[in-house]
Amino acid sequence: MHVTTRTGTRSRTRLRLAGALAAALVAVGVAAGPAAQAGEGHGKPATLADLAERHGRYFGSATDNPELTDSAYTALLGSEFDMITPGNGMKWYATEPRQGVFDWSQGDEIVNLARKNHQRVRAHTLVWHSQLPGWLTDREWTAGELRAVLKKHIFAEARHYRGKVYSWDVVNEAFNEDGTYRDTVFYRTLGPDYIADALRWAHQADPHAKLYLNDYNIEAVGPKSDAYFALAKDLKARGVPLDGIGLQAHLALQYGYPTTLEDNLRRFSRLGLDTALTEVDVRMLLPADEAKLATQAQWYADMTKACLAVRRCVGITVWDYTDKYSWIPAFFPGQGAALPWDEQLAPKPAYFAIQEALGGR
Ligand code: XIL
Repeated sequence: MHVTTRTGTRSRTRLRLAGALAAALVAVGVAAGPAAQAGEGHGKPATLADLAERHGRYFGSATDNPELTDSAYTALLGSEFDMITPGNGMKWYATEPRQGVFDWSQGDEIVNLARKNHQRVRAHTLVWHSQLPGWLTDREWTAGELRAVLKKHIFAEARHYRGKVYSWDVVNEAFNEDGTYRDTVFYRTLGPDYIADALRWAHQADPHAKLYLNDYNIEAVGPKSDAYFALAKDLKARGVPLDGIGLQAHLALQYGYPTTLEDNLRRFSRLGLDTALTEVDVRMLLPADEAKLATQAQWYADMTKACLAVRRCVGITVWDYTDKYSWIPAFFPGQGAALPWDEQLAPKPAYFAIQEALGGR
């Protein structure tokens, strides 16, 4: 039974080597799953972050604390992206649940996870009319009182995360659709300059963080994005520290693609500001079908290309990466399937479209 021909032994050895090599490749993910198709035939497959970095951009995802017990989820979160945004953990209700009593546990968990995975953090958000703690919304404030409350909150939070985050969405959703100021407790009580004050306080508390104003429905040129353009110009002229404008980009197939996105990004860039797509998802009326998923993929690719075409568009963040943890179904009943990975964490056409738009395969 030991009598084998030279050729026979060699081919069996080759087979064994081929098997071992295949196993090794599977182990590093080259021959297995979606990532394999992102690869360039050697080494580790390129992630969306790798591809974005070749253009000097980042590719990020939001995440939320409850999901972090899902190990299949955290594996992709930790490998595919280079920027992380806490979806809720840094909001006012979470960080100052009682007046003057701060709780950094949720934000810290995400910042620590990001650090472990060598990812940066887009921090979100210091001033917003939504998800405020009850103690703040349940009573009336004089201007003097609210100004002190706002300043204390911004200082405490921005200082706590000083040096640990790349950027802050300092003020979120300050305008109405028609470009007038949104009637929030801050605007009503303090007037429009609460925005400049918030930016100045955030800058004092964390001088290196990039400071953003962030909103939805400002992807296209229109009354709402015009309001941001005018405000940004005014703030810059007054020397108020503002680094960028965040375009949330919560798109919906039934409302059409914002075709002026690239022009819009470019006008902010020319003003000397960074821009970023900060909360991207593309929802659709359920059920999803092949045609809708194909259109969605095209929109993701178009957004990616628009960002790459404008020098100061610094990166793209999806508002979580998998339909399993998307906020859409709960907030827009009957809609969903908004993200590049499906509920089983399998990549959808949108994922491959982004990959291609970034110059992968
Ligand atoms: C959403 C979160 O994803 C949900 O989990 C939460 O219940 C509501 O807020 N614009 C924003 C985000 O700036 O903070 C919102 O996040 C989505 C819309």
